Amino acid sequence: MKIQESKIKCGPSLYGFFITSISLLILSSFSSAQQRTSELFIKDWHFNLGDVQDGQNPGLDDSRWRLLDLPHDWSIEGQFRKDNPAGVGGGALPGGIGWYRKTFLVPTSDKDKLTFIQFDGVYRNSEVWINGHYLGKRPYGYSSFQYELTPFLKYGNDKNVLAVRVDNSQQPNSRWYSGSGIYRNVWLVTTGKVFVDHWGTFITASEVTGQSAKVAVKTKIRNALQQNETITLTTILTDGSGKEVATTKSDVVIPKDSTYEVAQSLGIENPELWSVNNPVLYDAITTVESEGKITDKYVTTFGIRTFTFDSAKGFFLNGKHLKILGICDHHDLGCLGSAINTRALQRQLEILKSMGCNGLRTSHNPPAPELLDLCDKMGFIVMDEAFDMWMKGKTKYDYHLDFAEWHRRDIEDMVLRDRNHPSVFIWSIGNEIVEQWDHKDSSGDYISRELAGIIRSLDTTRPITSNCNDRTPDNPLIRSGALDMVGFSYGQDEYSLFPAKFPGKKLIGSETTSALETRGHYDMPSDSIKRWPIRWDLPFTAGNPDNTVSAYDNVSAPWGATHEEAWSLVKKYDFVSGMYIWTGFDYLGEPTPYDWPSRSSYFGIMDLAGFPKDVYYMYQGEWTNKPVLHLFPHWNWKQGQTIDAWVYTNCDEVELFLNGKSLGTKKKTGDELHLMWRITYEPGTLKAVGHRGNEVMTDSAVTAGQPTKIVLEPDRKVITADGRDLSFVTVKVLDDKGTLVPGAHNLIHFKISGEGKIAGVDNGSETDHDSFKADYRRAFNGLALVVVQSTEKSGQIKLEATSDGLNGSTVVIDAK
Ligand code: GAL
Repeated sequence: MKIQESKIKCGPSLYGFFITSISLLILSSFSSAQQRTSELFIKDWHFNLGDVQDGQNPGLDDSRWRLLDLPHDWSIEGQFRKDNPAGVGGGALPGGIGWYRKTFLVPTSDKDKLTFIQFDGVYRNSEVWINGHYLGKRPYGYSSFQYELTPFLKYGNDKNVLAVRVDNSQQPNSRWYSGSGIYRNVWLVTTGKVFVDHWGTFITASEVTGQSAKVAVKTKIRNALQQNETITLTTILTDGSGKEVATTKSDVVIPKDSTYEVAQSLGIENPELWSVNNPVLYDAITTVESEGKITDKYVTTFGIRTFTFDSAKGFFLNGKHLKILGICDHHDLGCLGSAINTRALQRQLEILKSMGCNGLRTSHNPPAPELLDLCDKMGFIVMDEAFDMWMKGKTKYDYHLDFAEWHRRDIEDMVLRDRNHPSVFIWSIGNEIVEQWDHKDSSGDYISRELAGIIRSLDTTRPITSNCNDRTPDNPLIRSGALDMVGFSYGQDEYSLFPAKFPGKKLIGSETTSALETRGHYDMPSDSIKRWPIRWDLPFTAGNPDNTVSAYDNVSAPWGATHEEAWSLVKKYDFVSGMYIWTGFDYLGEPTPYDWPSRSSYFGIMDLAGFPKDVYYMYQGEWTNKPVLHLFPHWNWKQGQTIDAWVYTNCDEVELFLNGKSLGTKKKTGDELHLMWRITYEPGTLKAVGHRGNEVMTDSAVTAGQPTKIVLEPDRKVITADGRDLSFVTVKVLDDKGTLVPGAHNLIHFKISGEGKIAGVDNGSETDHDSFKADYRRAFNGLALVVVQSTEKSGQIKLEATSDGLNGSTVVIDAK
């Protein structure tokens, strides 16, 4: 759901402390109408790392606290340390307690309005005060929530102080990197006194045919007045071009001081259906009128689509069979930490989309709302997941301590917030829940039924599942009958037995694969699959002393499978409706199979910096119609060494040449997902020539010389001057002929000038302990990344890269 600004738009500065009385006057006359405003409330917060006695006290002097803009993650600014209490599994970065305070003015004209503060997510244990009044707490770090400020606000020139205490000191509380702080957006919302309640609309489509669709709109109206109000509720549906396609009006009496739900029904002719390739969106514009005055205007984005999961044939979208080709991701954004940034999310989704990916599982918690907005717009089939644990925890201080008191509220809030998103297709009530293993204890059974019941009371249009690694019919979650669909965590080789073991049940590979790779690192030979036994006391033999893992797809966690193994089984069975691969991107924490000095994961198809590992091209060849021919490894080895050359391709056949001499042609017969040649190494050029029908493609691996220069390649040369937009600049270390130097790890310094700053640096290594918030980075296997962020001023941003012994490079990015 997207809350759109109404016509009267007051920028965040309206509430800023430095507002002049003249502008206050002008703005107050504008805002006298009673419509909704919804503004990002993220600028100029004061922050203190560490606990503060009476930090909520409005009179406290916070002028020495650090001034920053949200979203903010203080952990990512810290140093990696083995003994940080989050542990290596939690990313080896610090937690702690932090305070945020914001001082702001509210115009007198808002006195007859209601004012709310909305937090998209605070990790964790947030407590909020306005002008010293305690508003409440939220333990779960992934829930969105709001408080009403109205009764405690001061108007005019009296200052208001909002204070937030964030407590992430009890560690470990997560199996992956969580980040700490107000890491998602904050909104200040004002409304008239008769208005659409928080997450107050629910839009569903039924009877969808090519010719028409019936759209049901439920709207919760709150009347905060001490008298009954007769209102006119108008809902206008508009298509993507803003054209009105349906409208309806209802006159209703809303009793005083209450919330009332109004049901409306509309018809759309020739509806355009939302799909992964054509994600068409509609808006529902809700207007509340009372005594001839508009008291609220609220916009809900939605989509129209039909879908079914079939126990024999899998998933159908708008009547057409579609395999869900998805990935799981945690919420960190690499060097940006968990501080949400829409462009960083969009970049991840663009990389996934161009691989042919069409699905995303928000493992293992509700995501930032911006991620779902992007999935709506870009066409992803989302599994929205609530929890990683229920009453039984996985780490000492995790959410199991809060589950009993908070689960109802948290899961309700997830569904209420997310149920209008056309991209959300599946609710997951939990990931590998510990209770599933207690076959005799009934808690797994009744908690499943309770959680599923809560979801069904709010939404019956989507199936409910849970990611189960106890894949037996005795699993109490499955046995409870609460799940509409069985979610298998791994066990891909058990898929063939599923129809017999679970007659009539639907199956989704809610978590698959768990292969391990370090980008750009290759161990020979490549063709034996390596897994270690599930015994943590036994050594992991598929790795290396420097904590790298070979990037041929031949190493996986013992409970998982390689990419090729998992995909070939998902592909084989129609009844497997799809897969969510563990994971799209490497994430901070959980560096299975290693411990320190590793501090980030090896599971991603992309590394932590977002650079694709080779297996990206296996998926691209399988999942898209794009011509794909990807040859690896690099071509810098020892003379005479035996090297395995692999090709991922959707060509019919490929011929390989070493220094012009043919090493033979290999045909794709249908089943194999890569082609391989075993070669005695000599330096020069390895070239693959592929044929697909009449199409000819080539790819080469060339022996690189010494590193001589740096090249900077921004993903976008023009960005928005809004203080948030980003350009991701790839830094390459090349030889004098322009070939990437595969082992290059040169230390590169960056200098930025003009209207931009460095938001983070990375290189995708799992073991690098340098700070992400720096103006230097070592290359890792030839690559590094600089994330450049605009200021709010338009102008040029100049980024220079220098390194001892290399020719430097400069790039200019325009901020407009
Ligand atoms: C799964 C789990 C994930 C992650 C993954 C690593 O069992 O659901 O959160 O830990 O294993 O392979």
